[in-house]
Amino acid sequence: MSKVRARITALGRYVPPRVVTNADLEKLVDTNDEWIRTRTGIRQRHYVEPGTPTSEIALHACRDALHKRGIGADELDLIIVATVTPDMLFPATACLLQDKLGAKKAWGFDVSAACSGFLYALTMGAQFVETGAHRKVLVVGADVMTSILDFQDRATCVLFGDGAGAVLLEPGDDGTGILDFSHEVDGSGEPYLHMVAGGSRRPTTRETVDQRLHFVRQEGGHVFKFAVRKMAEISLRVLERNGLSGADVDLFVAHQANIRIIDAAQQRLGLPDDKVIKNIDRYGNTTAGTIPLALGTALDEGRLKAGDTLVLASVGAGFTVGGALVKWSGVNW
Ligand code: UT7
Repeated sequence: MSKVRARITALGRYVPPRVVTNADLEKLVDTNDEWIRTRTGIRQRHYVEPGTPTSEIALHACRDALHKRGIGADELDLIIVATVTPDMLFPATACLLQDKLGAKKAWGFDVSAACSGFLYALTMGAQFVETGAHRKVLVVGADVMTSILDFQDRATCVLFGDGAGAVLLEPGDDGTGILDFSHEVDGSGEPYLHMVAGGSRRPTTRETVDQRLHFVRQEGGHVFKFAVRKMAEISLRVLERNGLSGADVDLFVAHQANIRIIDAAQQRLGLPDDKVIKNIDRYGNTTAGTIPLALGTALDEGRLKAGDTLVLASVGAGFTVGGALVKWSGVNW
Protein backbone atom coordinates (compact mmCIF):
# COMPACT_ATOMS: atom_id res chain seq x y z
CA MET A 1 0.00 0.00 0.00
CA SER A 2 1.55 3.32 -1.01
CA LYS A 3 1.14 6.78 0.47
CA VAL A 4 -2.28 8.45 0.37
CA ARG A 5 -2.32 10.92 -2.49
CA ALA A 6 -4.84 13.31 -3.98
CA ARG A 7 -6.22 11.65 -7.11
CA ILE A 8 -8.09 13.47 -9.88
CA THR A 9 -11.32 11.45 -10.01
CA ALA A 10 -13.38 13.67 -12.33
CA LEU A 11 -12.92 16.44 -14.86
CA GLY A 12 -15.54 18.92 -16.05
CA ARG A 13 -15.30 21.85 -18.40
CA TYR A 14 -17.27 24.59 -20.05
CA VAL A 15 -16.73 27.05 -22.85
CA PRO A 16 -19.54 29.38 -23.88
CA PRO A 17 -21.10 28.59 -27.28
CA ARG A 18 -20.20 31.90 -28.96
CA VAL A 19 -17.13 31.45 -31.19
CA VAL A 20 -15.09 34.49 -32.23
CA THR A 21 -12.67 33.95 -35.10
CA ASN A 22 -9.60 35.94 -36.05
CA ALA A 23 -11.61 37.32 -38.97
CA ASP A 24 -14.20 38.63 -36.50
CA LEU A 25 -11.45 40.50 -34.62
CA GLU A 26 -10.18 42.02 -37.88
CA LYS A 27 -13.40 44.05 -37.83
CA LEU A 28 -12.61 45.46 -34.37
CA VAL A 29 -8.87 46.18 -34.37
CA ASP A 30 -6.03 46.54 -36.88
CA THR A 31 -5.02 42.89 -36.96
CA ASN A 32 -5.16 39.94 -39.32
CA ASP A 33 -5.61 36.20 -39.22
CA GLU A 34 -2.09 35.53 -40.49
CA TRP A 35 -0.42 37.55 -37.69
CA ILE A 36 -2.53 35.97 -34.96
CA ARG A 37 -2.05 32.41 -36.25
CA THR A 38 1.68 32.63 -36.85
CA ARG A 39 2.57 34.66 -33.72
CA THR A 40 0.26 32.80 -31.29
CA GLY A 41 -1.32 29.67 -32.85
CA ILE A 42 -4.84 30.96 -32.13
CA ARG A 43 -7.59 30.55 -34.74
CA GLN A 44 -10.65 31.20 -32.61
CA ARG A 45 -11.78 31.66 -29.01
CA HIS A 46 -15.09 31.47 -27.12
CA TYR A 47 -16.76 34.50 -25.54
CA VAL A 48 -19.53 34.67 -22.95
CA GLU A 49 -22.52 36.91 -23.52
CA PRO A 50 -21.65 40.27 -21.92
CA GLY A 51 -22.54 40.33 -18.24
CA THR A 52 -21.95 36.63 -17.62
CA PRO A 53 -19.86 36.29 -14.45
CA THR A 54 -17.06 33.81 -13.81
CA SER A 55 -19.14 31.94 -11.22
CA GLU A 56 -21.63 31.10 -13.97
CA ILE A 57 -19.14 29.43 -16.34
CA ALA A 58 -17.47 27.80 -13.32
CA LEU A 59 -20.86 26.41 -12.30
CA HIS A 60 -21.26 24.63 -15.65
CA ALA A 61 -17.78 23.09 -15.39
CA CYS A 62 -18.38 21.96 -11.79
CA ARG A 63 -21.75 20.41 -12.58
CA ASP A 64 -20.12 18.56 -15.46
CA ALA A 65 -17.42 17.17 -13.13
CA LEU A 66 -19.91 16.15 -10.43
CA HIS A 67 -22.21 14.56 -13.00
CA LYS A 68 -19.34 12.52 -14.45
CA ARG A 69 -18.38 11.35 -10.94
CA GLY A 70 -22.02 10.66 -10.10
CA ILE A 71 -22.07 12.61 -6.82
CA GLY A 72 -24.01 15.59 -5.51
CA ALA A 73 -22.58 18.98 -4.58
CA ASP A 74 -23.63 18.33 -0.97
CA GLU A 75 -20.76 15.82 -0.73
CA LEU A 76 -18.08 18.48 -1.34
CA ASP A 77 -15.82 19.55 1.54
CA LEU A 78 -13.92 22.40 -0.13
CA ILE A 79 -14.12 24.51 -3.31
CA ILE A 80 -11.02 26.37 -4.54
CA VAL A 81 -11.48 28.78 -7.43
CA ALA A 82 -8.49 30.04 -9.39
CA THR A 83 -9.35 33.21 -11.27
CA VAL A 84 -8.20 36.74 -12.09
CA THR A 85 -11.71 37.74 -13.10
CA PRO A 86 -13.70 37.17 -9.89
CA ASP A 87 -17.37 38.15 -10.02
CA MET A 88 -16.42 41.04 -7.70
CA LEU A 89 -13.47 41.95 -5.45
CA PHE A 90 -15.29 40.33 -2.55
CA PRO A 91 -16.94 38.05 -1.57
CA ALA A 92 -14.78 35.40 -3.20
CA THR A 93 -16.14 33.69 -6.30
CA ALA A 94 -15.79 30.39 -4.38
CA CYS A 95 -18.51 31.63 -1.99
CA LEU A 96 -20.85 32.59 -4.83
CA LEU A 97 -20.17 29.27 -6.53
CA GLN A 98 -20.78 27.33 -3.31
CA ASP A 99 -24.24 28.88 -3.16
CA LYS A 100 -25.05 28.31 -6.85
CA LEU A 101 -23.92 24.69 -6.60
CA GLY A 102 -25.78 24.10 -3.35
CA ALA A 103 -22.60 22.68 -1.82
CA LYS A 104 -24.02 23.06 1.68
CA LYS A 105 -21.14 21.73 3.76
CA ALA A 106 -18.25 23.06 1.64
CA TRP A 107 -16.05 26.00 2.54
CA GLY A 108 -13.96 27.74 -0.09
CA PHE A 109 -11.65 30.48 -1.22
CA ASP A 110 -10.17 32.04 -4.34
CA VAL A 111 -6.60 31.84 -5.57
CA SER A 112 -5.11 34.74 -7.50
CA ALA A 113 -2.16 33.46 -9.50
CA ALA A 114 -3.28 34.33 -13.04
CA CYS A 115 -2.30 31.67 -15.57
CA SER A 116 -0.68 29.54 -12.84
CA GLY A 117 -3.84 29.73 -10.77
CA PHE A 118 -5.12 26.29 -11.65
CA LEU A 119 -1.84 24.57 -10.74
CA TYR A 120 -1.51 26.54 -7.51
CA ALA A 121 -5.11 25.64 -6.58
CA LEU A 122 -4.63 22.01 -7.60
CA THR A 123 -1.59 21.51 -5.41
CA MET A 124 -3.19 23.44 -2.54
CA GLY A 125 -6.29 21.25 -2.74
CA ALA A 126 -4.06 18.17 -2.78
CA GLN A 127 -2.62 19.13 0.62
CA PHE A 128 -6.06 19.01 2.27
CA VAL A 129 -6.66 15.57 0.79
CA GLU A 130 -3.23 14.14 1.64
CA THR A 131 -3.42 15.29 5.27
CA GLY A 132 -6.79 13.58 5.62
CA ALA A 133 -8.56 16.87 6.39
CA HIS A 134 -10.92 16.48 3.42
CA ARG A 135 -12.13 13.72 1.12
CA LYS A 136 -13.73 15.73 -1.70
CA VAL A 137 -12.11 18.92 -2.94
CA LEU A 138 -13.29 20.69 -6.10
CA VAL A 139 -10.58 22.70 -7.85
CA VAL A 140 -11.80 25.16 -10.46
CA GLY A 141 -9.92 27.27 -13.01
CA ALA A 142 -12.25 29.84 -14.57
CA ASP A 143 -11.87 33.20 -16.24
CA VAL A 144 -14.11 35.57 -18.16
CA MET A 145 -11.18 37.34 -19.77
CA THR A 146 -13.51 39.38 -22.00
CA SER A 147 -14.54 41.29 -18.87
CA ILE A 148 -11.02 42.81 -18.63
CA LEU A 149 -10.01 43.02 -22.30
CA ASP A 150 -9.46 46.32 -24.04
CA PHE A 151 -10.93 45.93 -27.50
CA GLN A 152 -8.90 48.94 -28.61
CA ASP A 153 -5.59 47.18 -27.80
CA ARG A 154 -4.74 44.72 -30.55
CA ALA A 155 -1.68 43.46 -28.66
CA THR A 156 -3.85 41.88 -25.94
CA CYS A 157 -7.45 41.51 -27.08
CA VAL A 158 -6.68 38.88 -29.73
CA LEU A 159 -4.96 36.57 -27.24
CA PHE A 160 -7.63 35.62 -24.74
CA GLY A 161 -10.87 33.68 -24.50
CA ASP A 162 -13.40 32.70 -21.83
CA GLY A 163 -13.55 29.21 -20.33
CA ALA A 164 -13.64 27.06 -17.22
CA GLY A 165 -12.50 23.66 -16.01
CA ALA A 166 -12.93 21.78 -12.75
CA VAL A 167 -11.36 18.68 -11.23
CA LEU A 168 -12.43 16.67 -8.21
CA LEU A 169 -9.68 15.54 -5.83
CA GLU A 170 -10.19 12.48 -3.64
CA PRO A 171 -7.78 10.34 -1.61
CA GLY A 172 -6.36 7.08 -2.92
CA ASP A 173 -3.42 4.80 -2.25
CA ASP A 174 -2.96 3.07 -5.62
CA GLY A 175 0.17 5.08 -6.47
CA THR A 176 -1.67 7.49 -8.80
CA GLY A 177 -2.46 11.16 -8.13
CA ILE A 178 -0.52 14.39 -7.64
CA LEU A 179 3.02 13.10 -7.08
CA ASP A 180 4.97 16.34 -6.76
CA PHE A 181 4.93 20.04 -7.52
CA SER A 182 7.28 22.99 -7.79
CA HIS A 183 6.05 26.57 -7.90
CA GLU A 184 7.80 29.93 -8.06
CA VAL A 185 6.98 33.59 -7.85
CA ASP A 186 9.00 36.49 -9.24
CA GLY A 187 7.12 39.61 -8.18
CA SER A 188 9.48 41.87 -10.11
CA GLY A 189 7.47 40.78 -13.16
CA GLU A 190 4.44 42.84 -12.09
CA PRO A 191 4.91 45.74 -14.56
CA TYR A 192 4.95 43.42 -17.56
CA LEU A 193 1.52 41.84 -17.14
CA HIS A 194 -1.12 43.42 -14.95
CA MET A 195 -4.41 45.22 -14.49
CA VAL A 196 -3.47 48.43 -12.73
CA ALA A 197 -6.75 49.90 -11.52
CA GLY A 198 -9.55 48.63 -9.36
CA GLY A 199 -7.45 47.60 -6.36
CA SER A 200 -6.26 49.55 -3.32
CA ARG A 201 -3.24 51.02 -5.12
CA ARG A 202 -5.35 52.67 -7.83
CA PRO A 203 -9.00 52.55 -6.78
CA THR A 204 -11.35 52.99 -9.70
CA THR A 205 -11.98 56.63 -10.52
CA ARG A 206 -13.28 58.44 -13.56
CA GLU A 207 -9.62 59.10 -14.41
CA THR A 208 -8.52 55.46 -14.23
CA VAL A 209 -11.41 54.51 -16.47
CA ASP A 210 -10.59 57.29 -18.94
CA GLN A 211 -7.00 56.00 -18.99
CA ARG A 212 -8.34 52.47 -19.59
CA LEU A 213 -6.42 51.16 -16.57
CA HIS A 214 -9.17 48.66 -15.73
CA PHE A 215 -8.04 46.43 -18.60
CA VAL A 216 -5.26 43.84 -18.82
CA ARG A 217 -1.98 45.18 -20.18
CA GLN A 218 1.02 43.18 -21.27
CA GLU A 219 4.54 43.75 -22.54
CA GLY A 220 4.38 40.64 -24.64
CA GLY A 221 8.03 40.28 -25.60
CA HIS A 222 9.30 40.36 -22.03
CA VAL A 223 6.66 37.89 -20.82
CA PHE A 224 7.39 35.67 -23.80
CA LYS A 225 11.10 35.34 -23.01
CA PHE A 226 10.41 34.64 -19.32
CA ALA A 227 7.74 32.06 -20.21
CA VAL A 228 9.94 30.21 -22.70
CA ARG A 229 12.72 29.89 -20.12
CA LYS A 230 10.57 29.04 -17.11
CA MET A 231 8.10 26.62 -18.72
CA ALA A 232 10.92 24.24 -19.61
CA GLU A 233 12.86 24.86 -16.40
CA ILE A 234 9.95 24.06 -14.06
CA SER A 235 8.99 20.97 -16.08
CA LEU A 236 12.52 19.59 -15.98
CA ARG A 237 12.76 20.32 -12.26
CA VAL A 238 9.68 18.26 -11.27
CA LEU A 239 10.94 15.45 -13.47
CA GLU A 240 14.58 15.43 -12.40
CA ARG A 241 13.95 15.54 -8.70
CA ASN A 242 11.82 12.42 -9.12
CA GLY A 243 14.55 10.67 -11.08
CA LEU A 244 12.68 11.10 -14.38
CA SER A 245 13.42 12.70 -17.74
CA GLY A 246 11.41 13.78 -20.79
CA ALA A 247 11.52 10.16 -21.98
CA ASP A 248 9.29 9.16 -19.04
CA VAL A 249 6.54 11.68 -19.89
CA ASP A 250 3.37 10.30 -21.47
CA LEU A 251 1.72 13.70 -21.79
CA PHE A 252 2.88 17.31 -21.39
CA VAL A 253 -0.02 19.61 -20.54
CA ALA A 254 1.09 23.23 -20.54
CA HIS A 255 -0.71 26.51 -20.05
CA GLN A 256 -1.88 27.62 -23.50
CA ALA A 257 -0.68 31.21 -23.93
CA ASN A 258 1.27 30.93 -27.16
CA ILE A 259 1.98 27.92 -29.37
CA ARG A 260 5.61 29.06 -29.67
CA ILE A 261 6.10 28.88 -25.89
CA ILE A 262 4.71 25.32 -25.82
CA ASP A 263 6.83 24.32 -28.85
CA ALA A 264 9.99 25.64 -27.17
CA ALA A 265 9.27 23.69 -23.97
CA GLN A 266 8.45 20.59 -26.02
CA GLN A 267 11.82 20.86 -27.72
CA ARG A 268 13.72 21.30 -24.43
CA LEU A 269 11.96 18.23 -22.99
CA GLY A 270 12.62 16.26 -26.19
CA LEU A 271 8.99 15.29 -26.64
CA PRO A 272 7.33 14.10 -29.87
CA ASP A 273 4.07 15.79 -30.98
CA ASP A 274 1.87 12.93 -29.73
CA LYS A 275 2.99 13.64 -26.15
CA VAL A 276 2.02 17.30 -26.11
CA ILE A 277 -1.48 18.78 -25.88
CA LYS A 278 -2.11 21.89 -27.95
CA ASN A 279 -5.62 23.33 -28.14
CA ILE A 280 -4.84 27.04 -28.15
CA ASP A 281 -6.08 27.15 -31.76
CA ARG A 282 -9.64 26.53 -30.50
CA TYR A 283 -9.79 28.41 -27.20
CA GLY A 284 -7.02 31.04 -27.10
CA ASN A 285 -5.61 31.83 -23.66
CA THR A 286 -8.35 31.23 -21.07
CA THR A 287 -5.93 31.99 -18.17
CA ALA A 288 -6.89 29.68 -15.26
CA GLY A 289 -9.00 27.56 -17.60
CA THR A 290 -6.29 26.37 -19.99
CA ILE A 291 -4.92 23.32 -18.17
CA PRO A 292 -8.23 21.62 -17.32
CA LEU A 293 -9.48 22.43 -20.83
CA ALA A 294 -6.32 20.85 -22.23
CA LEU A 295 -6.88 17.74 -20.09
CA GLY A 296 -10.38 17.61 -21.60
CA THR A 297 -8.92 17.75 -25.11
CA ALA A 298 -6.54 14.90 -24.20
CA LEU A 299 -9.50 12.79 -23.04
CA ASP A 300 -11.54 13.69 -26.15
CA GLU A 301 -8.67 12.51 -28.33
CA GLY A 302 -8.14 9.30 -26.34
CA ARG A 303 -4.62 10.39 -25.41
CA LEU A 304 -4.93 10.06 -21.64
CA LYS A 305 -5.23 6.75 -19.82
CA ALA A 306 -4.91 5.53 -16.24
CA GLY A 307 -1.28 5.19 -15.17
CA ASP A 308 0.06 7.84 -17.57
CA THR A 309 2.77 10.19 -16.30
CA LEU A 310 1.86 13.83 -16.86
CA VAL A 311 3.81 17.03 -16.47
CA LEU A 312 1.63 20.11 -16.02
CA ALA A 313 3.31 23.52 -16.38
CA SER A 314 2.35 27.19 -16.40
CA VAL A 315 3.75 30.71 -16.40
CA GLY A 316 1.60 33.74 -15.69
CA ALA A 317 1.25 37.25 -14.35
CA GLY A 318 3.07 37.92 -11.11
CA PHE A 319 5.22 36.40 -12.42
CA THR A 320 3.96 33.02 -11.26
CA VAL A 321 5.40 29.71 -12.36
CA GLY A 322 3.76 26.33 -11.72
CA GLY A 323 4.84 22.75 -12.28
CA ALA A 324 3.27 19.45 -11.24
CA LEU A 325 3.96 15.78 -11.76
CA VAL A 326 0.81 13.65 -11.93
CA LYS A 327 0.15 9.96 -12.38
CA TRP A 328 -3.27 9.89 -14.04
CA SER A 329 -5.90 7.97 -12.10
CA GLY A 330 -8.50 7.52 -14.82
CA VAL A 331 -11.90 9.24 -14.95
CA ASN A 332 -15.34 8.62 -16.46
CA TRP A 333 -15.45 10.47 -19.76
O1 UT7 B 1 -0.72 33.83 -20.20
C1 UT7 B 1 0.08 34.67 -19.44
C2 UT7 B 1 1.43 34.76 -19.97
N1 UT7 B 1 1.41 35.42 -21.26
C3 UT7 B 1 2.19 34.98 -22.22
O2 UT7 B 1 2.85 33.97 -22.05
C4 UT7 B 1 2.24 35.79 -23.48
C5 UT7 B 1 3.67 35.96 -23.91
N2 UT7 B 1 3.85 36.81 -25.07
C6 UT7 B 1 3.46 36.46 -26.31
O3 UT7 B 1 2.81 35.45 -26.50
C7 UT7 B 1 3.89 37.33 -27.46
O4 UT7 B 1 4.82 38.26 -27.01
C8 UT7 B 1 2.73 38.06 -28.17
C9 UT7 B 1 1.89 37.09 -28.95
C10 UT7 B 1 1.87 38.78 -27.14
C11 UT7 B 1 3.28 39.08 -29.14
O5 UT7 B 1 4.14 38.45 -30.06
P1 UT7 B 1 5.57 39.09 -30.39
O6 UT7 B 1 6.17 38.26 -31.43
O7 UT7 B 1 6.30 39.24 -29.08
O8 UT7 B 1 5.16 40.45 -31.03
P2 UT7 B 1 5.52 41.93 -30.54
O9 UT7 B 1 4.73 42.26 -29.31
O10 UT7 B 1 7.00 42.09 -30.48
O11 UT7 B 1 4.96 42.76 -31.73
C12 UT7 B 1 5.50 42.59 -33.05
C13 UT7 B 1 4.74 43.50 -33.97
C14 UT7 B 1 4.62 44.93 -33.45
O12 UT7 B 1 4.72 45.80 -34.56
P3 UT7 B 1 6.10 46.57 -34.87
O13 UT7 B 1 6.39 47.36 -33.64
O14 UT7 B 1 7.12 45.47 -35.11
O15 UT7 B 1 5.76 47.38 -36.07
C15 UT7 B 1 3.23 44.99 -32.92
O16 UT7 B 1 2.67 46.28 -32.96
O17 UT7 B 1 3.41 43.02 -34.13
C16 UT7 B 1 2.50 44.09 -33.87
N3 UT7 B 1 1.28 43.53 -33.31
C17 UT7 B 1 0.25 43.12 -34.06
N4 UT7 B 1 0.04 43.08 -35.38
C18 UT7 B 1 -1.12 42.58 -35.83
C19 UT7 B 1 0.98 43.33 -32.00
N5 UT7 B 1 -0.25 42.79 -31.89
C20 UT7 B 1 -0.71 42.65 -33.16
C21 UT7 B 1 -1.91 42.15 -33.69
N6 UT7 B 1 -2.07 42.13 -35.02
N7 UT7 B 1 -2.91 41.66 -32.90
